[in-house]
Amino acid sequence: MPESLAHEASHPGAKMTLPEVLDHIGPELAEIETRLASIERPDVPLTAEIMEHVLAARGKRVRPLLLLLISKLGEKPDREGVLWASAVIELIHTATLLHDDCLDSTSLRRGFPTVNHRWGQQAAILMGDYLFTKGFDLLSEHGLYSALHVLTQHTHHMTCGMNREYASRYRADLTESEYLEIIGEKTGALFVAACEIGAVLGGLGPEAATSMSTFGRDLGIAFQIVDDIFDFTGNPTEIGKPTGTDFRLGFATLPLIYALERGDRKEAASVAACFSRGDNTDAEWAKARRFVTGSGGVEAARDRALGFAFAARDRLAAFDGSDDIGLLLATVEYVIARGR
Ligand code: IPE
Ligand code: IPE
Ligand code: MG
Ligand code: MG
Repeated sequence: MPESLAHEASHPGAKMTLPEVLDHIGPELAEIETRLASIERPDVPLTAEIMEHVLAARGKRVRPLLLLLISKLGEKPDREGVLWASAVIELIHTATLLHDDCLDSTSLRRGFPTVNHRWGQQAAILMGDYLFTKGFDLLSEHGLYSALHVLTQHTHHMTCGMNREYASRYRADLTESEYLEIIGEKTGALFVAACEIGAVLGGLGPEAATSMSTFGRDLGIAFQIVDDIFDFTGNPTEIGKPTGTDFRLGFATLPLIYALERGDRKEAASVAACFSRGDNTDAEWAKARRFVTGSGGVEAARDRALGFAFAARDRLAAFDGSDDIGLLLATVEYVIARGR
């Protein structure tokens, strides 16, 4: 299935794999890491210790990768600006995860204990605040005011999505379009920010920037649907975080929404009642997982994710002549085919 994403594309380099992409831009990725490592530590030993822990646990770096690759489509990218903005978007994303783990009371992130689990909720909230504000401050310090404008706007959209999701907890009747609105904001927003900032710092024109914004939203939605599938089918050791969190906390995601629509009526009613009641036992969660995987919810959600990835890929057609388009196509494919 992900194969078709690349093979249907006529772009040169469309068959590149993600490791090849990472190899190709290795020196720039290393520069982003250097900037992340150089970020000022708090003058408070406990906070500095927590920050070391947070920065040592590395994620997949998808948002900085997108920012960097999109900037390369421009004729004369602002290299230094791109590197700093890439580091900052990862910082902001990491801050959202610290707060998200507090909201979810989870104990594993990126394969390491969460800050809320190890040091407590208050410490995690404060670390999140430190990273959010440090990120915005860095953009301002480096004179990256356009990037700052884009990032504050979309970070705000992200919080709107988180609030909307929170307000919809335990609703077994959440519709697909409500779900898509939530994830378009909570996850799509930072993808949009990465892509728009890449376009701005790459010197792409306004039309291309708008196209990249839509690309980012579609790709962010595909990314979140895949993440929501992992919550039902993933292996915590591989994905570095627990599974079953969304169902237990009352977040209706696409695999569940589709399974409730398509599955056996009696079973669907029983799973929906469990979901809405909350506070589920392990056995109830196991039953819900079997229902969702057994009634086609996961396959249907995967197809929907693929549809968004195709839509994102089609946005890249306008850049067909560019040498670096294959790198972005491989990244789109990775979003769908990734194992974590
Ligand atoms: C996790 O994002 C939160 C979602 C939007 C699903 P990532 O899957 O990019 O997390 P890391 O950065 O790789 O840990
Ligand atoms: C992403 O959603 C939350 C943010 C946008 C911060 P999830 O709650 O699904 O992310 P994970 O699964 O905890 O990484
Ligand atoms: Mg979460
Ligand atoms: Mg998730």
